Amino acid sequence: MRAGRQTLHAVFRSGPGGRLGAEGVCLDAALAQAGAGTPAYVYSSRAVVERFAALQEALAGTGHLVAAALKANALPALLTPLRDLGAGVEAVSAAELLVAHGLGFRGDRIVMSGVGKTPVDLETALDLGVRFVSVESRGELELLNRLALRRGRRARALLRLNPEVDAATHPKIATGTRTAKFGMAAADLLALASGARDWRGVEILGVHAHVGSQIRELATLARSAERLGTVFAALRAAGLPVRVVDVGGGLGIPQRDGEEDTPMSVYAARVLGTLREVLDRECPDADPTVVFEPGRALFGPAGALVVRVLHTKRTGTREFCVVDGGMNDFLRPALYGAWHRVAPVEPRPGPERRFDVVGGVCESGDAFARDRALPPPEPGDLLAVLDAGAYGYSMASNVNLRPRPAEVVIRDGTAVLARPAETPADLAARELGAQPAGIPA
Ligand code: LLP
Repeated sequence: MRAGRQTLHAVFRSGPGGRLGAEGVCLDAALAQAGAGTPAYVYSSRAVVERFAALQEALAGTGHLVAAALKANALPALLTPLRDLGAGVEAVSAAELLVAHGLGFRGDRIVMSGVGKTPVDLETALDLGVRFVSVESRGELELLNRLALRRGRRARALLRLNPEVDAATHPKIATGTRTAKFGMAAADLLALASGARDWRGVEILGVHAHVGSQIRELATLARSAERLGTVFAALRAAGLPVRVVDVGGGLGIPQRDGEEDTPMSVYAARVLGTLREVLDRECPDADPTVVFEPGRALFGPAGALVVRVLHTKRTGTREFCVVDGGMNDFLRPALYGAWHRVAPVEPRPGPERRFDVVGGVCESGDAFARDRALPPPEPGDLLAVLDAGAYGYSMASNVNLRPRPAEVVIRDGTAVLARPAETPADLAARELGAQPAGIPA
């Protein structure tokens, strides 16, 4: 993106004066309205709602649940509008379950997954009466059975399939390959389901798979749906009364100029169509409820991390733009080498030069962008790191004892502070509070 040129981003576009904003509110105005400094995440609530509604609409006519993956974004201000539109949530820890419950998601709208659920996670799921727990191993099913019996309950479970699908994405976020830690091989899953059909503490409702994240090839997601259909049909053939297929999340978003967004209708049609084809062949009378667990596709494009330029400097052959955010605020570039657009909030005239846009954490990996052409920024300028609405704040940390940033939501053309930034004093107090009694200060 170049200074003064209209950006083509689906959510954050240049408005009056060429400044970057969403819903008609410039990002600098959003921070001012919300009383937030930098760094701060700014989201468009409308964008999240529209993306969710598009998926809901595409699934009309099919029994379904769209369960937003909380691990991507658990900001209450973004979730409550989804709740009101009929969304569910996918949770992977006791705390995520409690957040969902606290936000008023009913148990039948909460689904739980995760490869290493602890007894506390499972007990919380049982106590909240979640719709189902996706179980990843025999040991976990046994544990769930025991915990449910102890409570005089029968837990509802899906079995997570490892569909052995290689997703063309970053290896750290591919989860459906044969060597991944997730799920069970089809044969093991079928054996477990048959063996467990009479356990009194669990009822097996169906099958689940999730093959990875930021998947841009629909064929990959379709292949997973096909494998799920085959295993679902095999369970039916074995006489199990299964009735749910959970296709997971994984739909990718465009991150570079010129890449196209995948319409939710196209995504849904491809996944449902593939599943239906298998079922029509193998068990035509089956009409399972289909669960989708989108994370990135709902939240990613709807959020930007806004940072302020502290200094520019040159060392050796490189020019650096040092900003007040860092990998503690937004980890994806450092962890996955993820490429995110970085755009000046206010266009600055002048020929572009190449910069490494870096944060202040004491690690060389702490860079938002490398060798990126930018109109030369000045100290005090705001830059936006785009497509940061998913796995942004949720992966933020306090490394170097840096406070986590503020979160601002633009809704109906007004920006509000949805979560204040932590402060250095907050963090210092927490650290000092950890001092064991009796050790002199
Ligand atoms: N369901 C399950 C069981 C999952 O494990 C995930 C994500 C999702 C749904 C949502 O997937 P999505 O639609 O967002 O792709 N931190 C990484 C992404 C990790 C994804 C983990 N699982 C990143 O920043 O790329």
